[in-house]
Amino acid sequence: MFTLSTILGFAALALATSRTSAPSGALTVGSSGTYSTIQKAVNALSATSTSSQSIFIEAGTYSEQVYIKALKGPLTIYGYTTDTSSYADNKVTITADKALADESTDDETATLRVWTTNFKMYNVNVKNTYGSATSNGQALALSASATGQGYYGCGFYGFQDTILAETGYQVYGHCYIQGATDFIFGQAAAAWFDACEIAVLTASLGYITASGRASDTSSYYVINNSTIAAASGATVPSGAFYLGRPWEDYARVAFQLTSMTDVINSAGWSEWSTSTSNTEDVTFAEYDNSGAGSKGTRASFATKLSEAIAIKSILGSSYESATYVDTSYLS
Ligand SMILES: *[C@@H]1O[C@H](CO)[C@@H](O)[C@H](O)[C@H]1NC(C)=O
Ligand SMILES: *[C@@H]1O[C@H](CO)[C@@H](O)[C@H](O)[C@H]1NC(C)=O
Repeated sequence: MFTLSTILGFAALALATSRTSAPSGALTVGSSGTYSTIQKAVNALSATSTSSQSIFIEAGTYSEQVYIKALKGPLTIYGYTTDTSSYADNKVTITADKALADESTDDETATLRVWTTNFKMYNVNVKNTYGSATSNGQALALSASATGQGYYGCGFYGFQDTILAETGYQVYGHCYIQGATDFIFGQAAAAWFDACEIAVLTASLGYITASGRASDTSSYYVINNSTIAAASGATVPSGAFYLGRPWEDYARVAFQLTSMTDVINSAGWSEWSTSTSNTEDVTFAEYDNSGAGSKGTRASFATKLSEAIAIKSILGSSYESATYVDTSYLS
């Protein structure tokens, strides 16, 4: 992918190319790599260099929690794969099982905690296997806790609070995102999800997003050209899931050009809880969705858009040249 896209100057995504060896200069993780764990490679990065750095992870399952502190320059993580275009053939998995029951913040439960900016990650699966719990079951796969982050061809697996899209500008392209409760959540990010597969787990009631936008800020989650369906093997009653509920009362989320099966309730969106509705100032928007889950009478606090939201209005007019954006993963 590197030589082809560099030499020819176009995105090689459609060619389903392989990435089975380390790009030049990358630190390597795996049985024939320099580092045995991802954290050891992260710790070996320069914290003072402003140059681009990268890590290549060999095929394998890595049972560890990974914390990436703020670096001075860009960082890219590449997973081994024979098909860079999607998550479907990913061979690298990072897995852990921490939950809020044992930690003091949501972030500290995440299998992958990314606190650096100008960050990209390709073809890595990130799992939190804690599963369901009745209390303090927040168990994140990813904590995306700095601005300027892009995730491409990645898989995120959890049950409650899978992805914390917390702050700044973020892109998720051609990713798989699985969960049951509030599994795309956070407070301040402007995040664009494109061509993602959103998969819901067995539950009688569930929520995809939980926006914690607490005032009139630029935070917005936009899900574009994606799919929503039951995860493979999951049993989900018709209408069990909502597109979102408002964690805070300026919650703002849009689903557009997205197909959804009947797992989505005809009301589309939910109150936060019966005692705290939080719905007065929400923006819960849709445009041109399809499938059984897009039909029916939406909640009174839902918005029907007359045109699609443009990516520039979310990520800024110069998003295409931003370090964290790989436009070849935007549909
Ligand atoms: C939507 O995304 C899919 C990839 O999941 C892509 O194949 C398709 O071309 C996209 N649709 C449009 C209209 O761009
Ligand atoms: C959003 O999805 C539509 C297809 O449904 C696609 O044409 C458009 O390029 C997508 N936007 C971005 C920024 O990828």
